[in-house]
Amino acid sequence: MNLALLGFGTVGSAFYTLARQRSDITVSVLLSRRPRAGLGCPVTDDYGMILSDPSVDTVVELIGGTDPAFEYIIKALRAGKNVVTANKQVLAARLPELSAEAKKSGVFLRFSAAAGGGIPWIPSLLRAAVSDKVLSVSGIMNGTSAFILSEMKEKSAHYGEALAKAQTLGYAEADPSADIEGLDARRKLALSASLASGSFIREELIPCIGISSVSQEEIKYAENISAVLKPFAFASFEGGETDAFVCPALFPALSPESSLRGPENLFRLRSERLGVQSFCGAGAGGFPTAVNVLADCLSSAAPACPSFENLSSSAVLSGAKKRRWLFRSGGKRFIAEYTAKDASALYKRLKKSDKTAFAALMAKGEKYA
Ligand SMILES: NC(=O)c1ccc[n+]([C@@H]2O[C@H](COP(=O)([O-])OP(=O)(O)OC[C@H]3O[C@@H](n4cnc5c(N)ncnc54)[C@H](OP(=O)(O)O)[C@@H]3O)[C@@H](O)[C@H]2O)c1
Repeated sequence: MNLALLGFGTVGSAFYTLARQRSDITVSVLLSRRPRAGLGCPVTDDYGMILSDPSVDTVVELIGGTDPAFEYIIKALRAGKNVVTANKQVLAARLPELSAEAKKSGVFLRFSAAAGGGIPWIPSLLRAAVSDKVLSVSGIMNGTSAFILSEMKEKSAHYGEALAKAQTLGYAEADPSADIEGLDARRKLALSASLASGSFIREELIPCIGISSVSQEEIKYAENISAVLKPFAFASFEGGETDAFVCPALFPALSPESSLRGPENLFRLRSERLGVQSFCGAGAGGFPTAVNVLADCLSSAAPACPSFENLSSSAVLSGAKKRRWLFRSGGKRFIAEYTAKDASALYKRLKKSDKTAFAALMAKGEKYA
């Protein structure tokens, strides 16, 4: 696959690193409005040159915004090139036109990273939308707002302090208004809702309340009623009606929404036959997002069903790590450190003298992800 990369920012540079490690992808040119020395691939500021180059089969648009991104994408599609983009802004505004152009030209327009960053939200949503009827989409769709509210709750920080920390840690941009006023979440919601419902839902029609006026008073109020304040986005399509909004929302303290930490995102769909499916993880960040972009590039080139015929049959489990296990046998309970292999052998031995013997991993306080 020969591709042209547009943009070399947070996601573009991460994608470039990933692509350069592969033998099945060549980044043949980077479009940049400034010189980038020592990159190891040709750099141009002339988009026309990319369009007229027949060896470029895929354009990866990672510049963001609507202008000139819309023009770049539509021209690439017209020139018969597949397009992969992570640009929620252009898609929320112009998805039908771009999609029609891709269909007309017989090429792919893929955008898995446009909502959810590294979370496989859009592929899962599309799968549910074509094979079932999606009734609602919802979630915590903006990491910056989620981080700020989390910081205000966990560290009793004031809004301004939490925002400043989000900026220092790179979760918030110098101009954070799109995040804190709910506009970024609203774009992701509009795009998700359009894909789910089959109707184009304009972002500006969705009522939107940001988190910029949340104070410690509301955080404490939530705590007093055993709730947690989270930046919420919701759209439902039942009974032929679309109901959608973005706003801070109070969730029960033990809900999945409340258990999210820092900038973590959660995307959820409910569909007629699948029921509820939730996806959570890194909703942003250079490398997580770039992985989703890379997956889109690969699925444009590879057959839909990957082959596993070359799987090695000789994988060896290292199994040396000792962990804490709880055992019960003969009416006695004890905790001991074992490898999984030894714990399982001991469990089998205990079972011989006590059919009710029990063993469990003490997973509390350890990471299993
Ligand atoms: N960052 C994330 O975590 C994340 C997650 C999901 C989706 N996305 C999406 O991914 C896209 C890229 O985001 P990002 O965070 O990587 O943005 P970014 O860091 O601001 O990088 C944007 C890049 O595009 C270049 N650029 C902008 N306008 C250009 C133009 N007219 N011609 C040529 N180059 C231009 C910039 O060049 P200069 O260096 O010259 O300014 C910069 O290299 C956006 O659509 C964003 O919504 C980002």
